[in-house]
Amino acid sequence: MLDKAVHDTAWELLEASVMHFRGKPLGTVAARDTIVQELNYDQVFTRDFAVSAYAYLLADKPDIVANFLLQMVRLQRTERQLDCFRPGEGLMPASFKVKSVDGEEHLIADYGEHAIARVAPVDSGFWWLLVLKAYVRSTGDSTLAEGDEAQRAIRVLLDLSLSTRFDMFPTMLVPDGSYLIDRRMGVYGYPLDIQAHFFAALKMAQSLLVDNEENAPYTEAARRRQQHLAYHMRTYYWLDLAQLNRIYRYDVEQYGHNAANQFNIYPETIPSWLMDWMPEQGGYFAGNLGPARMDFRYFALGNLLAVVSGLATNEQADAIMDLLRARRDDLIGDMPLKLCFPALEDRDWMLLTGMDRKNRAWSYHNGGNWPCLLWLLAAACVRTGATDILEPALESVGPRLARDDWPEYYDGRHGRLIGREARRLQTWTIAGYLIAVQLAEDPSGLNRLGFDVEVQAASCGVEGAV
Ligand code: GLC
Repeated sequence: MLDKAVHDTAWELLEASVMHFRGKPLGTVAARDTIVQELNYDQVFTRDFAVSAYAYLLADKPDIVANFLLQMVRLQRTERQLDCFRPGEGLMPASFKVKSVDGEEHLIADYGEHAIARVAPVDSGFWWLLVLKAYVRSTGDSTLAEGDEAQRAIRVLLDLSLSTRFDMFPTMLVPDGSYLIDRRMGVYGYPLDIQAHFFAALKMAQSLLVDNEENAPYTEAARRRQQHLAYHMRTYYWLDLAQLNRIYRYDVEQYGHNAANQFNIYPETIPSWLMDWMPEQGGYFAGNLGPARMDFRYFALGNLLAVVSGLATNEQADAIMDLLRARRDDLIGDMPLKLCFPALEDRDWMLLTGMDRKNRAWSYHNGGNWPCLLWLLAAACVRTGATDILEPALESVGPRLARDDWPEYYDGRHGRLIGREARRLQTWTIAGYLIAVQLAEDPSGLNRLGFDVEVQAASCGVEGAV
């Protein structure tokens, strides 16, 4: 069962990861590994800190979160750009660090221009919105969110996310590696993980905008886009046995409005593994959908975020949990949670990752297991009442993570090995675990994170954990 000593250690480690700026706590560094080369893991990553922020909010320690939220507003770019070498208007940084110059501390932010492969963070602004909403909900204090700075930041984010470009889909078109999966992995185009996050962010933005004349068109645009996006995702991304049967018998080359096969998906592209793997009961959102392209891989982040944010209908949310039950070994494994399934192998790996050694099959982003997602698994289980999934998933992870020094990720089909290049003392692994334990003990905590969905679980019987 869950272990008090592990829990206390996790809190000590989380506190030890805090980075200060001019005397105030501002965020948590990504990892504190002293053995593996640092690269940029000594920085505060926006997406990683979002997990720490949730842990701090659930523990009634909101100060660090407030400081982070305000600082991010100041780091957001607000000038319209025609210069491709400058971060565009609305962008929030992927990460930042503190640098001392002549005894004075400054923040140096990275908008992707220093990152490996120069990937821009599409998700930073989304995380900011999600954390802002959680802050308001859990503290009951809306002064920060209703202030001019934050309101403007929300509008600028919406300008960036809602402006029309070259396509006419409600989904958002992004380059490869623009979020948690920040390496080339064939997740360019319209990846589910981004779409689910986009939906959640729009929902938060709509509820955070103050009711006034300047905000009115933004509130309305966010509302409308959510509706279109939800319809698109629920209809075209959804996969279960019935839908697979439909795709299998699709006609192709259909022109005009009445086409059933809107995206011209060729049935031959259904991978053979899926025909046997799809359970009788259960389903999930496909990994990507675009012209003549359906990525049939399962991605945990997008599917679980869809459950927690309400992008999935109640039936779809239950079906995703059924899939996790039916394919437990593949999707949860020895160490929760498989980031994507199945791994790209052989020629697919060569072509889609560019022969990325870090993303070999069943490693890292390419089918590795990520304990930082434990919080999201817990949140989805709490939302759907799936305590039968959560309890065994949490059963022995605490002591194991502690023994392994809180690694960034695990490798192997079932996640049995510590990731080959995993950082130790990885902060979001620690925070993800803490949130999961807390939600298991008190499911109503999910409301304090601001997702505004009906919570179906009762406590998971992990008393004494916290
Ligand atoms: C890796 C991950 C990325 C994370 C960063 C810091 O680059 O792919 O998602 O934010 O490490 O932990």
